[in-house]
Amino acid sequence: MSENIIEHNYHISQIDRSKGNNHKPILIWFTGLSGSGKSTIANLVEYTLFNEGIKTYSLDGDNIRKGINNDLSFSPEDRMENIRRIAEIANLMIDAGLVVLAAFVSPYKKDRENIRTIVKDVNFVEIYINTSLEECERRDVKGLYKKARLGEIKNMTGISAPYEAPETPDLEIKTENENIDASVKRIVDFIKPKLNLEDE
Ligand code: ADX
Repeated sequence: MSENIIEHNYHISQIDRSKGNNHKPILIWFTGLSGSGKSTIANLVEYTLFNEGIKTYSLDGDNIRKGINNDLSFSPEDRMENIRRIAEIANLMIDAGLVVLAAFVSPYKKDRENIRTIVKDVNFVEIYINTSLEECERRDVKGLYKKARLGEIKNMTGISAPYEAPETPDLEIKTENENIDASVKRIVDFIKPKLNLEDE
C-alpha cells in the first residue's frame, strides 16, 4: 500500500522549529521494571527542563495504554507493537521540536533497538532505571507483583515475562544507591549539552 504514498514537503522544517524553540529535540527513553521509578524520575527531569524554558512532552506506559494503545496486551507481540507506535509518536514530536520523555518497561532489547532506527540514533538517549526486582516487589506501589505471584496477572515482567537489561545504556540509575535529586541532576546534566543548537 505504501508505494502509492508520496511524502509532501512542508515549508517549515524541523530545523526551523528548533530555532524557534532555541534548542534541539531529543527522545529521552526510560526503561526498567514496573515500579522501578521511571515515571517519577522522568516527571522530575521534565519539570526541571520545562522550568528552564525547554519545550517538553511526556509519554507514559499507563497513560498510553489507556488511550491509543488500549487494544494491546502484554504478550511479546503486543509489547513490540506498543513500543513501535510510541517510537513513531515520539518521532513526530521530535519533528515538532520537542524534548520527549518516554517511560516504558520496554523489556525487549530488539524493540528498544527499533526505537533507535525509527527516531535516528542522534536523537535517542537510553536511560536504564535499574531497580532490583526485590525492591520493586517490596514497593509494589500498584499491587501488581502481589497479583502476579498469585497468578492473577499473566506475563508480568520480572515474574512471568523476561526483562532484558540494556548492556550499554547512555545512563544507568541505580535507585537503591543514589537519591532521586542526584539522579535527576545527573540526567539533566547529561541531556542539556545535547540540546545545544550551535553544536552541529
Ligand atoms: S511495555 O512492556 O509494553 O513497555 P508499558 O510500559 O507500556 O509496558 O506498561 C507497563 C505498565 O503496565 C506497568 O507499569 C504496570 O503498571 C502495567 N502492567 C499491567 N500488567 C503488566 C504486565 N503483565 N507486565 C508489566 N506491566 C504491566
